[in-house]
Amino acid sequence: MLPGLLPNIPIILDYITWLLKHQRGAFMFEGPWLSNMSIFVTSDPMNVQHITTTKFDNYGKGSDFRDIFEVLGDGIFRSDSQLWKYNRTILHSIFKLPCFQLFIYKTILKNIETSLLPVLDHACKIGTEVDLQDIFHRLTFDNICSVVLGFDPGCLSIGLPEAESVKAFTEIEDALFYRHIMPRCLWKLLRWLQVGKEKKLKQGQEIIDQMLYEQITTSKFKMLNQSSTLAYDDSQFSLLNVLMNNESGKEKVDDKVLRDTAINLIAAGKDTISSGLTWFFWLVATHPSVEAKILEEVKENLPQRKGDWKDLGVEGLGKLVYLHAAVSEALRLYPPVPLEHKCALKSDVLPSGHRIDANTMIVYSLYSMGRMEEIWGEDCLKFRPERWISKAGGLIHVPSYKFITFNAGPRSCLGKDISFKEIKMIAAAILWNFHIHLVEGHPVSPGVSIVLNMKHGLKVTVTKRSI
Ligand code: HEM
Repeated sequence: MLPGLLPNIPIILDYITWLLKHQRGAFMFEGPWLSNMSIFVTSDPMNVQHITTTKFDNYGKGSDFRDIFEVLGDGIFRSDSQLWKYNRTILHSIFKLPCFQLFIYKTILKNIETSLLPVLDHACKIGTEVDLQDIFHRLTFDNICSVVLGFDPGCLSIGLPEAESVKAFTEIEDALFYRHIMPRCLWKLLRWLQVGKEKKLKQGQEIIDQMLYEQITTSKFKMLNQSSTLAYDDSQFSLLNVLMNNESGKEKVDDKVLRDTAINLIAAGKDTISSGLTWFFWLVATHPSVEAKILEEVKENLPQRKGDWKDLGVEGLGKLVYLHAAVSEALRLYPPVPLEHKCALKSDVLPSGHRIDANTMIVYSLYSMGRMEEIWGEDCLKFRPERWISKAGGLIHVPSYKFITFNAGPRSCLGKDISFKEIKMIAAAILWNFHIHLVEGHPVSPGVSIVLNMKHGLKVTVTKRSI
């Protein structure tokens, strides 16, 4: 089946969706003989619930995943069983700390006020086109580095300076996708030869590792020079510091463990949010009635907030039901992680009736699941935030094995709430202050990567809005 796939790689997500529609939600992809490329692909929500939840213990990341994603070390995304449980327990306990949540909120707010709005203001004044996707990549990278490392690399500032680490991350992600669609022996050969995407992956990893180890050394140095236990004020707070502080008194935390935790969280929180934002803004710009309703809602809930952007506050954000629905709708149609990859430990029979042998690679397509009439109805391809709002005006809950964007079951996303907050804060701040105009004729389509970026970015011009 590989010859059929190769010409469709530029549109691989739509190609998989088309195949899934014609195969009633599941098929076995067979690669060349001896290539070890038998992959079971599905978009059936019952199969997905079975894999992610009911038979969770039988479906891990597996050895293929570990091979492909070696750059993630032993962090949460690449671990299974006890190591995964250990990683998840530690991160979960940090994510639910009220001071951690407040710190994240303040960091986003600071980046909106000191970087995002000034950069867009500047773009307004000089009237140039800007790539909104590039702006979001920079913003979310600055943000997640501040949260995880306690260090703001300042990639989003006027003039948009060269952002080596942001580029390095994107190149790593592209190369990781290609490892999925090449026979294992081929990408390993390319890695050994150090050519093409494999070379870029290695160079990217060196750039990121250098940044991470520098920040780990700095954090350890600062911690050693602190006389008392860590006071969680904003100047010292970071996820690394919390981790090191949790372990103080016990064994010293190894630099490699800190590096692995940091790269996993940066990967989790950077391009996912920027992808969500980019598709959201494109959808809103092409649906003026949705934009008008969002602005109306912000205005209604914040009558005192005239003129420049001010802090909405956590409570204010919670009231923005229509905005929440519009963000959910964008994330349904364009899930930032478009495909998930698992491996069956033992043989099994799925609810669709398909028999799965032990060690079979399984891919479920989050992208295709957002486009299934069986799940979302006949208008599944329409951007319609109203589908998320009940008659009483509240948000409709859709189970996670159907609205799969944040994954389902015990391995569902730990950053879901943070993501909604961050996207809503940024969306409200931009829409309240600026008109976003799409550059006519600019092509918009998904790129080929493990994160759903836009292939050519999102070129826009920006003008000031006064409400
Ligand atoms: C729109 C934004 C986001 C989306 C769509 C998203 C989606 C996902 C998905 C699909 C997974 C499952 C990945 C897998 O098992 O291979 C996942 C896991 C995870 N996400 Fe997110 N994510 C987002 C933002 C974030 C943020 C901001 C953070 C934290 C700062 C975060 C932290 C995590 C962690 C720690 C896991 C691993 C869970 C586990 O394996 O137990 N995510 N996310």
